[in-house]
Amino acid sequence: MPGQPGTEREQSYLPAMGKHWLLPLYDPLTRLAGVGRIHGQLLDRADLRHGQRILEIGCGTGNLLRALGRRQPDVDAVGIDPDPIALRRARRKAVRAGLPIRYERAFATDLPLPADSFDRVLSAFMLHHLAEDGRTPALREVGRVLRPGGELHVVDIDGTPPERGAGRVHRDARVAGSLPERVLAALADAGLTNVTENGRGRAWFGRIVFYRAEARRGG
Ligand SMILES: C[S@@+](CC[C@H](N)C(=O)[O-])C[C@H]1O[C@@H](n2cnc3c(N)ncnc32)[C@H](O)[C@@H]1O
Repeated sequence: MPGQPGTEREQSYLPAMGKHWLLPLYDPLTRLAGVGRIHGQLLDRADLRHGQRILEIGCGTGNLLRALGRRQPDVDAVGIDPDPIALRRARRKAVRAGLPIRYERAFATDLPLPADSFDRVLSAFMLHHLAEDGRTPALREVGRVLRPGGELHVVDIDGTPPERGAGRVHRDARVAGSLPERVLAALADAGLTNVTENGRGRAWFGRIVFYRAEARRGG
């Protein structure tokens, strides 16, 4: 996940595996790492219901929305990501599974989507791909596209240094900056409300944290 930023037009971004040429390894490695189980835990927390519009920011190769589609085959979902190659894989997988998921190329800080148009926004292992100063602007965009009272559900790596030893993943500066207190502060700074940590867990690549926040009602 951490590594060198990829460059695409005006903005740069950190691709799923850090380097573009490693992308083919993303699905097999995350399957081995049990990321599918973590996606399931995020979907469980999101209190999803039929008829809702769902957005995933930083959807990568589309595994979270595909898991959602397995639960709700008539899902109304959009995934965005700046990586065109990951999006191509995501689209191919959705077509193969017969799921009507829409994938668009976009940065989380500039969503080409109307205000107040989603019931849920999901984000899995994406926030730590943003530079520290990109987090609040991206979360402000989430607040803009969510309907009043709509919910954001996030899972990400916990960059808190482990008590003993340090996994390779913890040497990356963006992962090291992925601290629960900073994520919670960015969620609140972005104008979201009822911001909370929503559980913790473990994966082979380190500790993980779930977060939850809501778009303000009435304004
Ligand atoms: C580790 S992958 C996670 C993919 C997917 N959410 C999952 O759980 O399998 C992180 C993704 O964030 C995307 N990303 C990086 N910078 C971004 C940005 N500024 N806006 C939106 N997505 C971004 C990367 O291209 C990558 O696909």
